[in-house]
Amino acid sequence: MKFFLDTANVKQIKEAADWGILDGVTTNPSLIAKENAKFEDLIKKICHIVLGPVSVESVSTKAEDIIEESRKLAALADNIVVKIPICLEGLKATKILAQEGIHINTTLIFSSMQALLAAKAGTRYVSPFVGRLDDISHEGMNLVDEIVTIYDNYGMDTEIIVASIRHPLHVVEAAMIGADIATIPFGVIEKLVKHPLTDIGMDKFLSDWKKVKKT
Ligand code: G3P
Repeated sequence: MKFFLDTANVKQIKEAADWGILDGVTTNPSLIAKENAKFEDLIKKICHIVLGPVSVESVSTKAEDIIEESRKLAALADNIVVKIPICLEGLKATKILAQEGIHINTTLIFSSMQALLAAKAGTRYVSPFVGRLDDISHEGMNLVDEIVTIYDNYGMDTEIIVASIRHPLHVVEAAMIGADIATIPFGVIEKLVKHPLTDIGMDKFLSDWKKVKKT
């Protein structure tokens, strides 16, 4: 499973890139708004650090505007993926942009039929938001399971980015289901490496090593 970082924070992106596990980045308008930076400069900086895909969201609502905005976003760097929220105007835009070779990440996916429509229109990625479904007492991971089954049934190569991840168990479940990608907040990736028995084991090895005669 590929690991994307769900952030627009350059420090976090650099840090995760140094860990050697970073396959891409996803941003959205809310994440960009948290950073005190000029939008285009920030995106170019992120695209320079990350070799893999970097999702940047279109905020237009009419197909022709989405297309125009997406072309501009895609021109910022070779690894830009344009995020388009699922809607009929977005599907129209996706069809045209996909034919032009622009990679689309269809976002705000909350049903498997939205994911099927997006794949048919030619999207490269879909982003089901599991945490926001959990928030309203729906099992978010069931949606990922449905989409994996449907795409497998029809040999669709659209990749599934499990988004709105809130805790390590979401990442485990995404991997168990066989999702292509998990886009993960920095704090959750940090938690993935931790285990108390590892810490106890390291302390023991280090204290025993002090007892070893070195010469
Ligand atoms: O990037 C989209 C998604 O991951 C948002 O997550 O936590 O705002 O629901 P959240």
